[in-house]
Amino acid sequence: MSLASRRPAGTLIAASILDSDLAALGDEIRRAEAAGADRIHLDVMDAHFVPNLTFGWKTIEAVRHVTRLPFDAHLMIAEPGRWAAEFIDAGCDSITFHVEVAAPQIRPALEAIRAAGRSAGLSVKPGTPLESLSPYRDLLDIVLVMTVEPGFGGQAFMADVAEAKLGPARAWLDPGGACEVQVDGGGRHDTATVIGGGGTDVIVAGSALYRADDMAAEVARIRATADAARAAAIARAG
Ligand code: DX5
Ligand code: ZN
Repeated sequence: MSLASRRPAGTLIAASILDSDLAALGDEIRRAEAAGADRIHLDVMDAHFVPNLTFGWKTIEAVRHVTRLPFDAHLMIAEPGRWAAEFIDAGCDSITFHVEVAAPQIRPALEAIRAAGRSAGLSVKPGTPLESLSPYRDLLDIVLVMTVEPGFGGQAFMADVAEAKLGPARAWLDPGGACEVQVDGGGRHDTATVIGGGGTDVIVAGSALYRADDMAAEVARIRATADAARAAAIARAG
């Protein structure tokens, strides 16, 4: 089922396993589920689009069975069009890739993801304007706003990027709220007010969760902080 067919009622938390104990990835996914995370965010990197290399569809396929939570793939790879089918077959419920990749593959890849009944998303790096998404608006279930340079967990949140882009991204997708805005990079309780204030639907959190002493408390704290700010933003927007 398409993840983003409706705008979620409250802020959803997507746990990024990038900084988890990868020797026990299945257990780390179960830990996020037990802590109350809503989705599992899977950062795929190819050491080409970004200066880091992580895992691919075989790893995702191997851990698909450990949870019923949706798998949210974030492809930081140069050729998402070439590999989209593998990530669909691996069981990803949503697949987001970057608008900065070579353009000819973008529409076909979004169409393939949607044709498979999954949610399709595009992400913008901090320096990429939202306008770059305009040609693809009709095919987007997810807009993923990066608030760090993609490639690594644990980086500092770019509040200026969040403040400049989140409200406009949400307004661009409204009315109807058929699509969701995700924020990725530096998501934690002390940045959740700015994130929620932009009307953000999904917060990706990696290091904040996996380095927390109490992951469940951290999930609850991020969600509560973001929800309060998000409700105010939605009320303001009418
Ligand atoms: C970075 C990844 C993020 C990363 C977030 O390129 O896309 O999903 O895991 O990590 P934190 O939450 O630590 O910034
Ligand atoms: Zn990510």
